Amino acid sequence: MAKKLIGDPIDRIDGDLKVTGRARYSADMKRPDMVYGVLVMSSIGNGRIRSFDTAETLKMPGVLTVMSYGNAPKVAGINKNKPSEVATDRVMSLFQDNKVHYNNQPIAMVIADTFEHAVDGAARVKVTYESQKPKPPLPAGRNNTFTPERLPRYDDQVDTKRGNLKAGLSGASTKVTETYTTPTQTHNALEPHALIAYWEGEKLTMYNATQGVSGVQKRISELFGMPKENVRVIAQFVGGGFGSKGATWSHVMLAPMAAKLVGKPVKLVLMREHMFGMVGWRSSTVQKMVVGTKKDGEFTALSHDTISQTSAFDEFAEPAGTISRMMYASPNMESTHRLIRANIGTPSAMRAPGEAPGVFALESVVDEVAYAINMDPIALRLKNYAETDPHKNLPFSSKSLRECYQQGAERFGWAKRTPEPRSMREGNELIGMGMASSIYPVNRAESTALVRIKPDGKVQVETGTQDIGTGTYTVMTQVAADVLGLSPDDVTLSAGDTRFPESTTSGGSRTTASTGSAVTQAAQAVLKQAKQLAYKDKRSPLFNVAEAEIVAENGRLQTKSDPRQGETFVSLLKRNGSKPLEAKMLSKSADEKDNYSLNAFGSIFAEVRIDEALGRIRVSRMIGTFAAGRILNAKTARSQILGGMIWGVSMALLEDTLIDPRTGRVMNPNLAEYHVPVNADIEEIDGFFIEEKDETVNPAGVKGIGEIGVVGSVSAIANAVYHATGKRIRDLPITLEKVL
Ligand code: MOS
Repeated sequence: MAKKLIGDPIDRIDGDLKVTGRARYSADMKRPDMVYGVLVMSSIGNGRIRSFDTAETLKMPGVLTVMSYGNAPKVAGINKNKPSEVATDRVMSLFQDNKVHYNNQPIAMVIADTFEHAVDGAARVKVTYESQKPKPPLPAGRNNTFTPERLPRYDDQVDTKRGNLKAGLSGASTKVTETYTTPTQTHNALEPHALIAYWEGEKLTMYNATQGVSGVQKRISELFGMPKENVRVIAQFVGGGFGSKGATWSHVMLAPMAAKLVGKPVKLVLMREHMFGMVGWRSSTVQKMVVGTKKDGEFTALSHDTISQTSAFDEFAEPAGTISRMMYASPNMESTHRLIRANIGTPSAMRAPGEAPGVFALESVVDEVAYAINMDPIALRLKNYAETDPHKNLPFSSKSLRECYQQGAERFGWAKRTPEPRSMREGNELIGMGMASSIYPVNRAESTALVRIKPDGKVQVETGTQDIGTGTYTVMTQVAADVLGLSPDDVTLSAGDTRFPESTTSGGSRTTASTGSAVTQAAQAVLKQAKQLAYKDKRSPLFNVAEAEIVAENGRLQTKSDPRQGETFVSLLKRNGSKPLEAKMLSKSADEKDNYSLNAFGSIFAEVRIDEALGRIRVSRMIGTFAAGRILNAKTARSQILGGMIWGVSMALLEDTLIDPRTGRVMNPNLAEYHVPVNADIEEIDGFFIEEKDETVNPAGVKGIGEIGVVGSVSAIANAVYHATGKRIRDLPITLEKVL
């Protein structure tokens, strides 16, 4: 019997490999004669290097060399090492000059025969500097006196205006103006950034922990000034990325440079401390929100002004205002984004860039409005429900947010909540209940997949995307099996290698929509070939049967009306010379983006319990309900959602990269002092999906689920904290001293 395939909660096909330690990550690979690189980082925040003293290091056993400004190979494509419109092309530190732009910037690499020798050698490199005062980072709520310098260069961050904000505000009976601030946050994937680079003549191979093998291939070949085909990037398994492995950062170029310099394969694994600054982080933000409303809750005006920071030498702006433009039907709306420059590593996309901090501000201020006019927060949101996208002025391809509110409220028991702050308690604990909307746009990028039906009836799929821990291997296998009427066991998927047809970077929750569409279309194309082979073949039981009458099921092609009339792929191919059938398809967006607003939606409900005397905050319950198109695998999808919601707990209560404004140095660059939740921090948590059939959004019918989990979670918790304590905390993270 054919299994039900799409939606089935099947186990990860790579699960066994992972839990038994047989899955090989980039740093697990080995090459004969491999040597080890360890980075030396700057200890000033701004200035230049006067000199290196490497005498002691070079005397150490096993040390081959110290690569730094002076002996580092010249980078041919360095002129391309400039701020780009492509957010993944970051300006790198490649030891081409002696400038120091931030504290903890890579300035040299010690290369030795063992990792230990390299670590020891790196500790003995002495550097003298000419130091200047670093420009301090955005103080995120602790002190907001600064002048934003400039407009971001990116299209989605231009100022926007709908209607007339002033007029809208003058027509309001209640006006709420508040500023929300979020700190610098640092992605901390379990697997650190790591790679092994080796040269074979002109050809470079890299095992590299990345969210995008083809992006790395493109960038590195450009910088070396060599043909793309000469660079091979492999990432079979990746232990999380969260945006941090989406760009090609300095170390990815430094390792092959070092391999060239010493003529040996070089392995470079970043220390945890090195991951705070040189591989991106989420910028701190200051967000001013204004909402005008009538007595009945109808918004007359809404504005969202964001300031974030970028580095002194490159540009990235946190697009926090983009959701506020379209989430509610306010006729008058304005948004702005501004940047300051600081001597820090360049910020980057971190899980739901823009949406996560931006919706914290938006859904917090909406909660404040609900209290100001004494209205239920869900009723207020329904009152301002956007039936069409008011920013793009387009219909939604599908939007089931109403159902998300309603089902979420029911599951959570929202009706039991008494709205008055501090009105619910148990013993010493104040209980708070809060809710928020969640949303994430549907992204899609050009992707190619190849599907091959082999003479033994098994199917091989090849695509140059990668599984960053999200379950891509599993769901792509399911997609191909579904189209071809096979069991997932009969399908093998190969990914994570630039040898396979080019596919998307795994970022912006886009892999399943992009690669999933390519796999769908390639599988449909190869199925069509098989059908043609059958109905044109006099010897086939399907000879002369109309193509539309033929379906694929259980490894067979058969007629819709009579499953017995048909044959297996095996017999079909055997009769036709035992040659495989294959199809390669490039899948890209048609015009759906011009005609529809494409988004996944959700609701988050959170309950907190706060020890009144100690201020200790626990998130005791969290329920997320999402509508994200077709759900391909109930198990991996739920894992994605729960991971995002836990990230929300992390962002709401814990994460805070502390940068000393005097030196630009991170004060807590380790997982002991940079807090993220552990199992004991997470109590009852669950995630649900609402069935949503959306045939417009893309051929796979899916919306991304990698980031939407975090988006509303932060404000749901913040709103619950207010409900529990009567204290509105507008500066993340919400730590115990703030509620006392
Ligand atoms: Mo993600 S922050 O879109 O890699």
